[in-house]
Parts: sequence; C-alpha cells; structure tokens
Amino acid sequence: MPGRTAWFGLMDAGVPKPGETLVVSGAAGAVGSLVAQFGKRAGCRVFGIAGGARKCRFLTDTLKLDGAIDYRANSDTAALAAELKRLTGGVDVYFDNVGGWITDAVIPLIKRRARIIICGAISQYQGGLDRPDMGPRLLQHMLYQRATIQGILARDFVHRMDEMKAIVAPWVQRGEIVFEETIVDGFDNLPSALNSLFEGKNLGKLLVRI
Ligand SMILES: NC(=O)c1ccc[n+]([C@@H]2O[C@H](COP(=O)([O-])OP(=O)(O)OC[C@H]3O[C@@H](n4cnc5c(N)ncnc54)[C@H](OP(=O)(O)O)[C@@H]3O)[C@@H](O)[C@H]2O)c1
Repeated sequence: MPGRTAWFGLMDAGVPKPGETLVVSGAAGAVGSLVAQFGKRAGCRVFGIAGGARKCRFLTDTLKLDGAIDYRANSDTAALAAELKRLTGGVDVYFDNVGGWITDAVIPLIKRRARIIICGAISQYQGGLDRPDMGPRLLQHMLYQRATIQGILARDFVHRMDEMKAIVAPWVQRGEIVFEETIVDGFDNLPSALNSLFEGKNLGKLLVRI
C-alpha cells in the first residue's frame, strides 16, 4: 500500500520531469522514502524533510538524495523555509505527508506550474485538522505560480497495481529499492507502536509482529 501511494501519487499527480526539484516531507517514512527514490529515478533533484540527524543521514547516505533537511533542527517555519530555499532554490513538486507548519515553509518556494501532492497530514492527526489557523493558507502562491494541489488516495489505484508492478518489481528484484522496516514484537504493543508514529520512532514501514 505505501508503494502504491508513493508510485501513483508521485507519477500520476506529481508528474516529475528530469531536472525538476522534488521536496518530500516525512521523507524517511514508509511512503516518503519510496517517493524520494522514485523521484531520483525520474531524474529529479530530490530533497527530503525528516526529523533528526539519523534520518537525514539515511536520506543522503543510503537513499542518495541531493539533500536532507532536519525539521527538528530548523524548528519554525521561517528557519525551515530559509534552509529549504538555500538548498533547493525552489520547488517544482512537493509531496506532502505531514502538513502544518512544515508545509507552510514549502509553499512560498514553489516555482511556476508546481505540483503539490497532498498525501497526508500526520502532524495534525492528533488535533488541528480543522483548525483554521492550520488550514489551507498561502494560496496566493498557487495563483501567481499557476500551481496545482491534488489530494491522492491509495485505494483509487488498486486496479492499477499490475501497471506499477511491471515497472517497480524488477527494481525491487535487483535490490535497487531500499525499503526499511521498523518491527515491534507483540500484539500488546500495537497501541504504543501506533502512537510511536507520531513521535517519529520508525524508519521506513512500521510493522507489529504477532
Ligand atoms: N493518501 C493515501 O492514500 C495515504 C496512504 C498511506 C499513507 N498516507 C499518509 O502518508 C503519510 C505517511 O504515512 P506512512 O505510513 O508512510 O508513515 P511514516 O512516514 O512511515 O511514519 C510517520 C512519520 O511521520 C513523521 N511525523 C510524525 N509526526 C510528525 C509531526 N508532528 N511533524 C512532522 N513529521 C511528523 C515521523 O517522521 P519524522 O521522524 O521525520 O518526524 C514519522 O516517522 C501519513 O500522513 C499517512 O496518513 C496516505
């Protein structure tokens, strides 16, 4: 499911082109880490946003991204935007897994005809999804840059799995795609494992082994 989300979200809604700049939030997670790798394969310059030095090293050293930005070290919108601008110069495609103030830092950096893909808003799942001050803002940037925002849902692409597998499966079989898993043991640990998603304890896909 994360693979399907990443593949169709990026390729169908993001339409990445060689040489374009792709920014991915939640980049060290299950969906984000695949989006980042698919973006590299599409010929983009790819920058990931993630929490902490360990995850940022994973993005640059293991996934070979062009840059990683630690949102915990740049912990407000202005600081994160400044660092993003310095590293990227501007954003053609933004794949958003987290929403909130991190997305506020990215939107003013979009370039002409940018595509913004709304995949998730995990930073607001524990309250805030309906708060107007965290809602859709900065939309004047869409106007001037003739940009688009598109929500994507994994279930809409179930019938196209064969199409994805035909392209992606050989990459997986050749060991060219990194898919980290963080495994927690024990049924009783399900609630704490779920909650750990909101603290960023997982690298790649979080699984509970029963
Ligand atoms: N549209 C769809 O069909 C679809 C399908 C699957 C998933 N999703 C969405 O895609 C997103 C990623 O899902 P996933 O399964 O791949 O999870 P994930 O990225 O593997 O795990 C969640 C990650 O989100 C980050 N995070 C948590 N709270 C945060 C906060 N307050 N601010 C910034 N980052 C925060 C953490 O990474 P850090 O350590 O970097 O903070 C955490 O590791 C979620 O929003 C999910 O709901 C959507």
